[in-house]
Amino acid sequence: MSDNQLANKSQAWSALFSEPMSDLVKRYTASVGFDQRLWRADIAGSLAHAEMLAAQGILSAEDHATIQRGLGEIAAEIEAGRFDWKLDLEDVHLNIEARLTERVGIAGKRLHTGRSRNDQVATDVRLWLRGEIDEISGLLAALQRVLVDKAGEHAGVILPGFTHLQVAQPVSFGHHLLAYVEMFARDSERLADARKRVNRLPLGAAALAGTSYPLDRERVARTLGMEACSQNSLDAVSDRDFAIEFSAAATLVMLHISRLSEELILWMSQNFGFIALPDAFCTGSSIMPQKKNPDVPELARGKTGRVVGHLVGLVTLMKGQPLAYNKDNQEDKEPLFDTVDTLKDTLRIFADMLAGLSVKPEAMRAATLKGHATATDLADYLVKKGLPFRDAHEVVAHAVKTATQQGVDLAALTLDQLKTFDARIEADVFDVLSLEGSLNARNVLGGTAPAQVRAQVARHRARLG
Ligand code: ARG
Repeated sequence: MSDNQLANKSQAWSALFSEPMSDLVKRYTASVGFDQRLWRADIAGSLAHAEMLAAQGILSAEDHATIQRGLGEIAAEIEAGRFDWKLDLEDVHLNIEARLTERVGIAGKRLHTGRSRNDQVATDVRLWLRGEIDEISGLLAALQRVLVDKAGEHAGVILPGFTHLQVAQPVSFGHHLLAYVEMFARDSERLADARKRVNRLPLGAAALAGTSYPLDRERVARTLGMEACSQNSLDAVSDRDFAIEFSAAATLVMLHISRLSEELILWMSQNFGFIALPDAFCTGSSIMPQKKNPDVPELARGKTGRVVGHLVGLVTLMKGQPLAYNKDNQEDKEPLFDTVDTLKDTLRIFADMLAGLSVKPEAMRAATLKGHATATDLADYLVKKGLPFRDAHEVVAHAVKTATQQGVDLAALTLDQLKTFDARIEADVFDVLSLEGSLNARNVLGGTAPAQVRAQVARHRARLG
């Protein structure tokens, strides 16, 4: 087949095809519009494959050198934006291979020996995703560092802790931020774990059954830094579990970002007034001059929906496929690419935005004083004086009722008033009823006492390096 013929896909397959594809079918089946972003992985995979073919005596040293040079030149062309991607050549793989043959001649036609696009594309996506996971892990660590620094700064700042969005107990603002650090730390673990299964080599499975050439698959795996070879050729070309696992991990990252976004949005509303986000991350209104809207967290909450959608899309894509490769699999790319792009942008923007977060401790304190947040502390105080907890709970409920009727916080009742609920109450009760007293009392591992928060900050700093 001549090089010109390879450039014309309707004839590229074989003499079997007698009529050309319509433009619509070409457009419908082609993936080059989006899969060209795999070019680095495609070239890395081809270089490793060619090197192994030469080492095994399947390719001459001369052809190997020619292929190496040609692929290097093509990489430079793509890098410089001088590569002419052709829809007629369907995808990134055929585009690069055809260009190689165009540049170096017959040696280019030998590259595809012992290989199929089915094992090639699975290899490319894995190589590409491995690099993205490493980048995302770095971004997740950077975001955690910002949160840990803020937590250290605000370990002693008191915020109303909510259950059911009702004031529950005072908590440290630093402690609250560290809750998100725990979530992102788990996300990092999940990504690192998924990476192990991403980093396996399908190449050598060929179309579906393996190949009759004496390939050294372990050698290719070593060259590409992959941890193992896939052990079943049918599974190797058809498996997209790794993409789904990554998407599930990415969905959880976005879910955590979305929960944090919801809190930032609430905290920034006038009714809370707990924080301010830097102006660079907010927008105004075209009609209401007084407005400053938390657009970035709102969009992140919205974009979480599309990442969830991609996960569901991928799962649905796979659920009905028989072994082995089916063209359906080409549809794995756009959701995966968009998930990666959305995640990376979101993590970057959140690290920058949160570094500029300003906190309003007075507003947080005032809000904490509104909800009898230390009622549990009074009950615990009575338990320590010998009252069974259930009785103490009842006593405090009466005290809360009285304070509410008088429109004051529990801590604002006088000692005489408090004594009417239980004679065991003494003057030392006011330490217990204070917000600081309540906070400091929770000095248990994982508790909100500032001493615990500072210990956690130190632990996270050591972990994150
Ligand atoms: N562009 C295709 C994909 O992304 C490459 C594999 C094509 N293989 C095939 N037998 N048509 O899945």
